Amino acid sequence: MTIWLPLHRKSRPFWFPLLQIAFFAPADPTELAEVFAQKESNSQAVLTDALPTLLFPMKLALFVSGTGSNARTIIDRFQAHPEDGVEVVLLISNKPTAGALTMAAERNVPTLVLNRNEFRESDALLTGLARFQVDFIALAGFLWLVPAYLVKAFPDRILNIHPALLPDYGGKGMYGANVHRAVKAAGETESGITIHYVNEHYDEGNTVFQAAVRLDKEDSPEKIAERVLRLEHANYWRVIRRLALLAYQ
Ligand code: GRF
Repeated sequence: MTIWLPLHRKSRPFWFPLLQIAFFAPADPTELAEVFAQKESNSQAVLTDALPTLLFPMKLALFVSGTGSNARTIIDRFQAHPEDGVEVVLLISNKPTAGALTMAAERNVPTLVLNRNEFRESDALLTGLARFQVDFIALAGFLWLVPAYLVKAFPDRILNIHPALLPDYGGKGMYGANVHRAVKAAGETESGITIHYVNEHYDEGNTVFQAAVRLDKEDSPEKIAERVLRLEHANYWRVIRRLALLAYQ
C-alpha cells in the first residue's frame, strides 16, 4: 500500500504524529530513536510506465563526486543480496581523485571517469551506459547538474538523494556542509533526507521518499550531517530496491 501524507512541517496537521505511529515503521529498528516521520510518494505508476521491459536484475549505475559512502552502502547491500534484483554494474565519477573510485574497484565494480566536456556531450556517457546495459541511475553525492539529454534518455530512471527536507535547503550551491550549516543557522528543529527523481534543475524532481530526524539545540552542523548520513545509508538502497520490485510487478 502506498500512502501519501504531507511531511513538510508547514503543511503537517496536528494529528500527523498519530498517523506516523500507525503507518510508518522506521527503515531500521536502530533508527527508531531518531526517525519520526517518513513518507513515500505514489511512484508506482510512473515507474512501471517508464520501465516496461526491465530485465532481472535491474542494472544500476552510480554517479559520484566524492567519498562515496552512500555508493559503498548500496554496492555492499546488493552484492550481498542478489535476490533484491539490483546489480550495480558501473560507477561513474566526474573526479579522477574521488575516493569512491577505489572503493568501487575493490568491489569489482567497473568505473568510468568523465570530464566536463565528455559529460556535456552525450556520446561518451550514453555509450558507457549502453555498454553496461544500465537501466537505472542513482546519484550519490554527484555535484554536476544532470544534462537534459540524460534526463530524456532515462525518464524517471534517475534518482538523487539530498541531505535535507526539500523543498527547503535545496538548489544550486546547497550541497554537503553548506546544507547543514544553513539548517543550523535557521535554528531548525528537524532535518532529514529527500530521495527524488532527477530533472534538468537542481533538487526539483518529484519526491519519492523523505525521512526526518529531530535535531537537538546543541547539534553542530557536523552532528547534523552525521545524523542525516545515517538516514541516507539506511534508506537509499531500500528505496532503490522498492522501485526495482515495483518495476517487476
Ligand atoms: C550525501 O550527503 C548526499 O545526500 C549528498 O552528497 C553526500 C554524499 O556523501 N547528495 P557520500 O559521498 O555518499 O559519503
